[in-house]
Amino acid sequence: LFAGEVTFVKGVVAMDGLPPADRAEVCFAGRSNVGKSTLINALTGRKAIARASNTPGRTQEINYFALADSHYLVDLPGYGYANAPLPKVEQWQRLLKAYLSGRASLRRAFVLVDTRHGVKAVDEEIMNLLDRAAVPFQVVMTKADKVGAAEQGRILDQVRGKLAAHPAAYPELVLTSSEKGDGIATLRAIIAGLV
Ligand code: GTP
Ligand code: MG
Repeated sequence: LFAGEVTFVKGVVAMDGLPPADRAEVCFAGRSNVGKSTLINALTGRKAIARASNTPGRTQEINYFALADSHYLVDLPGYGYANAPLPKVEQWQRLLKAYLSGRASLRRAFVLVDTRHGVKAVDEEIMNLLDRAAVPFQVVMTKADKVGAAEQGRILDQVRGKLAAHPAAYPELVLTSSEKGDGIATLRAIIAGLV
């Protein structure tokens, strides 16, 4: 699945701009700056097919990427603090929530959590929304390279504890570093098994 070509399909700013729901897709959600776009680049082996930056609020549209012309990877705008005008942020938050609760072809939402910070209140809000919409989700820990083993263990315990309260959550976490490549092959295999 990941050996073939990956192409950028379109950036979507409203629900009626979504491509037809005629093929399976997975999406990447998470707080602004958690590493969603960077993870898509790592998964596809492309340096910058998804645009990443150090400024929270970089991705402002729902960006569709096609794998092997048959499945979609969906890069979402972040939630939480973003360095962008408030009306714009509010508009993409509405779109994000509508997408997460109303996309028939969405097989799984990956909710990215920074390994330094663990699950925050805004993450729980999104997890509650996914529970209500019955969208299965799985947590992907990002930036594992920035955290030592002891701290990692402490944060992973916190995340597992939080997930236990969410019926739509897969209990299994995926620990990744897009920087070092850790966990990327695992996540590719999970996605290949879903779509
Ligand atoms: P928004 O589009 O603003 O919501 O952010 P995003 O979640 O798409 O984050 P993005 O991929 O733009 O990455 C944010 C910053 O984190 C960039 O400076 C990345 O280089 C950095 N980053 C992402 N993943 C990793 C990682 O695994 N390790 C390290 N060290 N840095 C990372
Ligand atoms: Mg982004």
